[in-house]
Amino acid sequence: MKDLVSLKTSLNQEVERALNHQIKTEAHASSTYLAMSSWCGEQGYDFSADFFAKQAEEERSHMLKLFKYVNDRGGRAISPEITNITTDFDSFRDLFERTLEMEIHVTHLFNDMAEKCIRQKDFVTFQFIQWFLQEQVQEEYVARHIIGLFDLIGEQGSGRWQIDKQIQKVKYEG
Ligand SMILES: [Fe+2]
Ligand SMILES: [Fe+2]
Repeated sequence: MKDLVSLKTSLNQEVERALNHQIKTEAHASSTYLAMSSWCGEQGYDFSADFFAKQAEEERSHMLKLFKYVNDRGGRAISPEITNITTDFDSFRDLFERTLEMEIHVTHLFNDMAEKCIRQKDFVTFQFIQWFLQEQVQEEYVARHIIGLFDLIGEQGSGRWQIDKQIQKVKYEG
């Protein structure tokens, strides 16, 4: 007789664990971006406050996409507990440097997951996460280009307010 429990999901345990870890990472990123949005709003960087609020929404949608995938495959997606959100930042520029760092970290996580998928011969999940890897190209591009604005415009005088205004124009055309 076949083991019905093991038929519930074809998701490999190691891959499922990595997906749940990623769900938590995306939720953490969402909360972090929300904290950054608040910081910008308080400092009067209104366009950046908007930028980070949108980033927060995007990260939440990434979380939900992964969440649904795990359950659709018969696995168990875990609703993540989010702690340790940084709410104080050194400077306006600091926010974007942290953003780039975070996004590079996420790219590494997805690359590691891709490697696990291949090792475990889970080509369905391997294909599913290609979308996220593509998304990371865009996320890193935007963060890098915003940091570039700091170097280009400079922070003296009304520089930071100029940068704030330009942020909404940074787009990845792919
Ligand atoms: Fe994300
Ligand atoms: Fe992201």
